[in-house]
Amino acid sequence: MTKVSIVRCFLLLMHLFRYIILINSLHIPPPLPLLPLPSYSQLQWQQREIIMFFHFGVNTFTDSEWGTGKESPAVFNPTHLNPDQWFRVAAKAGISLAILTAKHHDGFCLWPSKYTDHSVAKSPWKEGHGDVVQEFVAAAAAHGVDAGLYLSPWDRHDRRYGKEKAYNEYYLAQLQELLTRYGSIREIWFDGAKGSNAPNMSYYFWDWFSMTLVQTPDGWEMKTDLLGKLLGLPSTGHHCQLAMQALLKCDVSIRPGWFWHKSEEPKRLSKLLEIYYKSVGRNCVLLLNVPPNSTGLISEIDNNRLIEFRNAINTIFSHNIAQKCVIQASSQRGGKGSSFGPENVLDNDHLWTYWAPSEENKQDQWIEIEAENEGLRFNVVMIQEAIGLGQRIQQHEVYVDGKRVANGSTVGYKRLHRLRVKEVNAKRVKIRVVKSRDLPLISSIGLFYDPYWHPNKS
Ligand SMILES: *[C@@H]1O[C@H](CO)[C@@H](O)[C@H](O)[C@H]1NC(C)=O
Ligand SMILES: *[C@@H]1O[C@H](CO)[C@@H](O)[C@H](O)[C@H]1NC(C)=O
Ligand SMILES: *[C@@H]1O[C@H](CO)[C@@H](O)[C@H](O)[C@H]1NC(C)=O
Repeated sequence: MTKVSIVRCFLLLMHLFRYIILINSLHIPPPLPLLPLPSYSQLQWQQREIIMFFHFGVNTFTDSEWGTGKESPAVFNPTHLNPDQWFRVAAKAGISLAILTAKHHDGFCLWPSKYTDHSVAKSPWKEGHGDVVQEFVAAAAAHGVDAGLYLSPWDRHDRRYGKEKAYNEYYLAQLQELLTRYGSIREIWFDGAKGSNAPNMSYYFWDWFSMTLVQTPDGWEMKTDLLGKLLGLPSTGHHCQLAMQALLKCDVSIRPGWFWHKSEEPKRLSKLLEIYYKSVGRNCVLLLNVPPNSTGLISEIDNNRLIEFRNAINTIFSHNIAQKCVIQASSQRGGKGSSFGPENVLDNDHLWTYWAPSEENKQDQWIEIEAENEGLRFNVVMIQEAIGLGQRIQQHEVYVDGKRVANGSTVGYKRLHRLRVKEVNAKRVKIRVVKSRDLPLISSIGLFYDPYWHPNKS
């Protein structure tokens, strides 16, 4: 070899070397997202965790749950209606969105609609000059809570109901009235509830949605029960799945009924916590109904129960015992030192930093938390997926000191396992992903102690 070619060869090698070093010091990018992905507003919605419903209307005064539509507007007469009091309670309970029944199945409108006289305008309340929707929206804004409205498609009062075109026109007109008259409405709630002998009639859901889109260009959220079914969308495919994602909610009333009844009382704290574990703890948003009473206020007893519920949640989840532990995993995308290490599940940025296993090792993926000194005393295990990149886990198991204590299917935004025992005192907690649609991406793991949990009592 000539001198020149040796130098050339040397330079080439140097170049290659630099290139290899450069590659090694660069970060490996995140894995590709797995469709369907939640939209921005769906992510926001999921993170609300608990939202509120206010069922209020003629039923509040007639001691019924489903009005007949024949109620006289004269029965609607709250003596001290004050939505500001409702939102004082809601804000204290950490609620960020509340929905009012602007019209329930009985057809009575809580606002003076131009299109019907079956409304507050014909009631003795404020001599017919009141507007509950307006007071509701103003109070929500004053307390920094988003306002939503429920407008029942089923209407037992209006004569147009059953005449498809006429009724859909009426419904759309009311929707437009609500969306234009009151400023920022963040959410419109539709559902398909209707009595078994109600007239056979189609709802023009597409028109209703389009109207909502046209009227609320700014960050709207729209939810409906059984959306996919109502729209006749196929049960597979991204569109439907995306639509269905919006339906991850559980609606529950704090009392036995949806409307206030003198004879009823709110549920016990232990029951509310059970509902919390079964809804928020299973990747759902909890829509909790707290009905105002016939005075027009939230009863003291409901008020107290709601605050008690919020305080209990704060107490349980304020201290993540896993935080002071050592953590390791079956593998790590990009190897040690990459930005996908297991330590990400213990940081405070819940959704966008996560543990990712390597692509090569698809068998037996796990992540394990180990106590440094004294044992870990807990009875709740929390797992969260990085759902911004798509939900993946299909089956998982939780082991405490080598013994399986819980298992489940999907995880999603949040999965809570309340153990079957009052508490455990352990050295190691392992979460195994048994089956997933693609590489599992876990954004958060928590171990908590729930002092309200008495497994033998319930
Ligand atoms: C309502 O209409 C649907 C579709 O047109 C039909 O299948 C169903 O039998 C009807 N039900 C009644 C109670 O008329
Ligand atoms: C409604 O709740 C308020 C506030 O607790 C209370 O003062 C009022 O007596 C209640 N009304 C009825 C009818 O129970
Ligand atoms: C949980 O474990 C039980 C008992 O082994 C099993 O029957 C069940 O299928 C498991 N469930 C899930 C979702 O993995």
